[in-house]
Formats: sequence, C-alpha cells, structure tokens
Amino acid sequence: MHTQQIDRRTAITSIGVAAVAGAAALSARPVHAAMLADEQTGFDPATNRYTLPPLPYAYNALEPAIDEQTMRLHHDKHHAGYVRGLNKALDHLDAIRSGSEDTSLIKHWSRELAFHGSGHRNHSIFWNSMTPDSGSKPEGAFADAIKASFGSLDAMLAQFNAASKSVEGSGWGWLVYEPTARKLLVMQSEKHQNLTIWGVVPLMGIDVWEHAYYLKYQNRRADYIAAFTTIINWAGVSQRFAAASS
Ligand SMILES: [Fe+2]
Repeated sequence: MHTQQIDRRTAITSIGVAAVAGAAALSARPVHAAMLADEQTGFDPATNRYTLPPLPYAYNALEPAIDEQTMRLHHDKHHAGYVRGLNKALDHLDAIRSGSEDTSLIKHWSRELAFHGSGHRNHSIFWNSMTPDSGSKPEGAFADAIKASFGSLDAMLAQFNAASKSVEGSGWGWLVYEPTARKLLVMQSEKHQNLTIWGVVPLMGIDVWEHAYYLKYQNRRADYIAAFTTIINWAGVSQRFAAASS
C-alpha cells in the first residue's frame, strides 16, 4: 500500500480514540499530523496516557460570545474530567489484560473509554473550532465543497444551527467530512459518542451540553449557538477540511 494511502486512511479513522493513540505512537505522518496538530490531544507516547492541553487562547478571549467563567469551568473542570476518565478507563483495561482485574467489568470500561475518549476528543476540536479573530468566510475548495454539499454557506449554517439546537439532552452539533462520498455532512451527537457514521472526520463542533452555555445564556441555547457562529475559526476548519480531503 502506498504510504500516502496509509496516511489518509489513518487520518480518516482518527475519530476513534484507538486510532488517535496509534497515530501518535506511529508518529510523523503528514496528514494526521496536520489534523491532530490543531486538536492538541495531549497524548504522551511515553506514558501511553493523555494530558489536558491548554486552551489555544486566553480564557476571556471569546468574550462576549462566551464568558470567561464558563471557559474556565468548561476547560479546567469538565474537559479535565474527561481526560481523567479516559486515562482511568485505559488503566482498568490494562489491568484486565494483565489479569489483575477480571473481565466482568470490561463492558463498563469499554463504555467509559468511548464516553470519556470522545469527550476529550470533542472538546479538543471544539476549542479549535473557535477563535477571537473569526476572519474571512470559507474560500477555495472548502467553499466549493460547502456549496456542493449544502447549496450555500448560509444553508449549511442554518442546518448546523438547527441540528445543534435540537440535540436531545446533552450533545454536540458537527460539520463533518464523509470520506467515502467525499462530501460534507451536518450531524448531531448525543452525549459525546452516540450518533455518528464511523470514519467521518469532524471539522467543526459545538458543545451544547448545558455546562457550555448555561451561566451566560441559561435556557437560551439558540442564542448561544448564534454567538458561536460569530467566532468560528474558519481558517482552522478549512485546514481540517484540506487535511481530511487531500
Ligand atoms: Fe463540554
């Protein structure tokens, strides 16, 4: 298999935590390097465990769209909790493999791995989906793909906003790249890990758990989503599209 094919396949499957771990362990492959660089998964091959990366900007940088207190709690408490949960699940699965714990709880720890692993991954993408300097709208191949998949940028954002607003309970709204059809889709996820198509590459995500917006917006999820659209990191999202579709 050609090296570039391997790189691309590895990148496409990188929505899975195992693939992220494997990608870091195998190191220096250009496509997923580009994709993972902005996600800052904090994976340390030396310890085989994850760490919480810092925010890519100051806690108050997204004011007034998202307030400083929400960002501090969200990153330092909630996201940190998912990193701890992910590492804890890995510890217990290690113990099960080594025989120091029996296999009766493997279903529980496998679920924990998916929940916390996705929680960590999702938040890493979320922080990088936003920027204080939203800048210009999509251009070039990314703009073309949006038009081909949705008709227009406005139509994509309308679907993204509506999907995000209508997530049942706690979850996420996503813009993703579906590599087998080479097109973009808007998707939801419930909790962190439910409702996806395996293999899609997340390009942009909004956290619609109440912890993401309740301090400032209370029950007005739609207002929070509207504010999010003013701080989208279009340059970063375009980069992720380029990496996923190359
Ligand atoms: Fe969150």
